[in-house]
Amino acid sequence: MKLPVYLYGHPVLRRECADVTPEYEGLKELIDNMFETMYASDGCGLAAPQIGRPDRIVVIDADGLKETFPECAGERLTLINPRITVLDGESVTRDEGCLSLPGLSEKVARVEHIKLEWVDEEFRPHEREISGFLARIVQHECDHLDGKLYIDHVSMIRKQLIKGKLNNILTGRTRCDYPVRYAPSKR
Ligand code: NI
Repeated sequence: MKLPVYLYGHPVLRRECADVTPEYEGLKELIDNMFETMYASDGCGLAAPQIGRPDRIVVIDADGLKETFPECAGERLTLINPRITVLDGESVTRDEGCLSLPGLSEKVARVEHIKLEWVDEEFRPHEREISGFLARIVQHECDHLDGKLYIDHVSMIRKQLIKGKLNNILTGRTRCDYPVRYAPSKR
């Protein structure tokens, strides 16, 4: 089932998400729904708070980016309770977007090499070193689990410049070709 994507301004996107336990009800169905929602909105990653669940679950399918970023080929991941360790502090700046911030894209500096630990939907533990654009996607999605958005990483000046667009999202005046849920109205 395709779910609406919660947009910038919704308080669920600012919550510290909770660890997921094997008792979590409907986990597999939720993961299926997250993949379906991500594919329907043409995204390469989706975190549970983006569908209104403040839980540490991320889905990624980066295969569509393989022409530009070969490290993304065949990468379809379900991350539960992911943990990132930075392996190399050197950062690279690239454009980033987010399904919760439609119509926006900003340059964000992120490290290129990380170690990622997580459990899958069967709660089997995994550990891997990840590089390049895939490492960026993982960092972006894991930020969501800590209530962070990529615009938190851009300069005050850039933030000032995109204020109008952010306001359009906050006030429900943005156009989007996938189902969305706006922040509760403060008007
Ligand atoms: Ni995002």
